[in-house]
This record gives sequence, C-alpha cells and structure tokens, in this order.
Amino acid sequence: MGNPFFVKMFIRDNHLDALELLLTRQSTPRLTQPAPSPIELQHILDAATRAPDHAGLTPWEFIIAEDDGLARLGDIFVSALKAKGADEDLIVKAKNMPLRAPMVITVVAKVTEHPKVPELEQHLAAGCAVMAMQQAAFAQGLGGIWRTGELAFDANVHQLLGLEQQDQIVGFLYLGTPALSAPTKTLKDGMTFARYL
Ligand SMILES: Cc1cc2nc3c(=O)[nH]c(=O)nc-3n(C[C@H](O)[C@H](O)[C@H](O)COP(=O)(O)O)c2cc1C
Repeated sequence: MGNPFFVKMFIRDNHLDALELLLTRQSTPRLTQPAPSPIELQHILDAATRAPDHAGLTPWEFIIAEDDGLARLGDIFVSALKAKGADEDLIVKAKNMPLRAPMVITVVAKVTEHPKVPELEQHLAAGCAVMAMQQAAFAQGLGGIWRTGELAFDANVHQLLGLEQQDQIVGFLYLGTPALSAPTKTLKDGMTFARYL
C-alpha cells in the first residue's frame, strides 16, 4: 500500500487537489451508509501513519467499529455510564451515539516512556493521525467528524476497549457518506491569528 502508484489507482475520480483539500476540509456531523469501502479504509489508515511521529514510535492504535461493532461500542459506553451511576437518559443517548455513522474509529494514543518524546508529543502525533484520517476520508468523497466527550476519558471505557493504563483516547472518528450536501463553510483568514517576531 505504500506505493504511490497503487494509491493513485484506487482513489475515486473526484479526489481533491491537496491544497483545495486543506482549504475546504470540514466536518460532516450527519453521516449515512455506505461506510468506507475496504480500499477507502486502507487509504484512511495509511494516511494516519503519515502523521508526524517523533522518534518513529507509531504511538497509535485504531479500533474500528462497523456493523455489530457499533452496537458493541454503544454497550461499552452504557457499561461505563452505569458504573458511575449516570442518568437513564444519558445512558440511552450514549448507547445510540455510535449509531450516528456507519463506522466509528476509536483513535488511541499508545504512550510509551521515551527519553526524548514526552507524553504530550505522543498525544499530538495520534491527534495528527486523526486529522490525516479525516482528510483522507474527505479526499475520497466521504465525510467524517472527530468527537471526544467525557467517555473518551473514562477509565471503564478504556478498560473495556482493552487499553493500557497509560493509553488515551484522542478521538472517536465518525465516518461514512455525507447524508446532506452542506455548503463549504467560510474560510477564516489565517493571518489574523499570526504575528511576526
Ligand atoms: C480533540 C477534538 C475533540 C472534539 N470533540 C467533539 C465532540 O465531542 N463533539 C463535537 O460535536 N465536536 C467535537 N469536535 C469538533 C468537531 O470535530 C469539528 O471540528 C467542529 O464541529 C467544527 O467543524 P469543522 O471541522 O467543520 O470546522 C472536536 C474536535 C477536536 C479537535
């Protein structure tokens, strides 16, 4: 999959120019079937591995939920919320959260001790992977939204997903086909956030 020719062959005809992609990327909260196809998913995961990665630690794991996996993720949310005595309304809402898209990828920062790469940098690398995955989805005509919320930081969710103590969920990336065609949001002027030294 690392061969650029192979990548090019399988990208849909409507792929975006790289700069156009960067200047138009936006989230798609309303998603429907179909989920990314196997080859689209492969591109999404391969793009994740292009994230900047200090010392080449590959500090990430991608837990893919599709079909029954979405219900399993919802059940994990339910168990975690029940364990902390959450309201029934919230429990029902959480059970259905993963059903808002045909695929949800939980992106985990897999943190290891390293003399030159602090935990923050490993979290940043995993976060960059999420961004790359969303961009790769968008580039292939798919939609996605990066979500977190309190369940991303919940110790029971971590345990039920099989994470280790030092791991952190950096995002639940909801992916699928845009349910609505949304206009491109107005671009902010980047220079207004910049200054010269
Ligand atoms: C780390 C992180 C966590 C986020 N968590 C949520 C979330 O839980 N729910 C949500 O609606 N948006 C969340 N967002 C924001 C959306 O992903 C999205 O960026 C925002 O709605 C703005 O839309 P845009 O991407 O089209 O500019 C999060 C973004 C980041 C970077």
